[in-house]
Amino acid sequence: MTIQWFPGHMTRARRQIQEKLKLIDVVIELIDARLPLSSRNPMIDEILQNKPRLIIMNKADLADPAVTKQWQDYFKEQGHPAFPVDASSGTGVKDIPAQLKLLLKEKIDRQIAKGMNPRAIRALIVGIPNVGKSTLINRLAGRSIAATGDRPGVTKGQQWIKVGGEIELLDTPGILWPKFEDQNVGYKLAVTGAIKEEILNVEDIAFFAVKYLVSYYWDPFRERFELDDSTPHNPDESDEIVAIMEAVGRKRGCLISGGRVDLEKASRTLLRELRAGKMGRFSMESPY
Ligand code: G4P
Repeated sequence: MTIQWFPGHMTRARRQIQEKLKLIDVVIELIDARLPLSSRNPMIDEILQNKPRLIIMNKADLADPAVTKQWQDYFKEQGHPAFPVDASSGTGVKDIPAQLKLLLKEKIDRQIAKGMNPRAIRALIVGIPNVGKSTLINRLAGRSIAATGDRPGVTKGQQWIKVGGEIELLDTPGILWPKFEDQNVGYKLAVTGAIKEEILNVEDIAFFAVKYLVSYYWDPFRERFELDDSTPHNPDESDEIVAIMEAVGRKRGCLISGGRVDLEKASRTLLRELRAGKMGRFSMESPY
């Protein structure tokens, strides 16, 4: 489905991360708070092996806070501390250094007990495309880090970015591929904008989004798009979902000749508003 991730790329991505793992003490695994499962790499445990790991649920500003809290508890049960963050505005970001130190406390205490002077903690951010890795790096760095190393023909050595006095972050993140063996995962990633619309049909993506949202977030959905509460919205009735998409199209003036709704345009408009958080916060996966 996401054609840019054929096996050769996966192998290369994996190898690049494993090279970087040798340089660092701790991994910041960045996931999308709206999709904590689908936005995770399926082989993450194998790739990271036993490196200490802090899970950061990014874009928490767009996710349902009650569901994010459930995920935080879920990951804790799995033995991984996890924290919600909004890397765009910076909310939660300032707590990351302290959480990294906490994660490595035993190691640091051992070094101190041996009379060693602990050096800065070295960290690497990993995550799927669009999850917010660059945004978080820039936030932690407090400035814009040019990603020149990503351009073909431009070689650049690893650079360490100082974050406060005790953390050093690798300036280039580890880019991982998402899960995509399951078609629903692909749709969820497309609804949140993690994968490009062109990969799947935009009307199918919008249909998937509406079917989900009328099931779990009917009130904010109908309020955003000014639909009457009596609007039929049975998620198992495809006709009702399409009628809702058409109603949204009419509200937004997405019309073609004869007054018919331009469903493709309506779908793009609807998805754009959802991704920008205009309907309010929503999560597409819950752990329990
Ligand atoms: P990447 O390096 O992992 O590929 O992701 P990147 O930082 O480029 O972020 C991808 C998109 O997600 C960007 O939006 C970025 O602004 C947005 N983003 C990152 N973190 C957050 C967050 O915590 N909350 C919200 N709401 N958005 C976040 P874009 O539309 O691609 O670019 P732009 O509009 O910011 O220019």
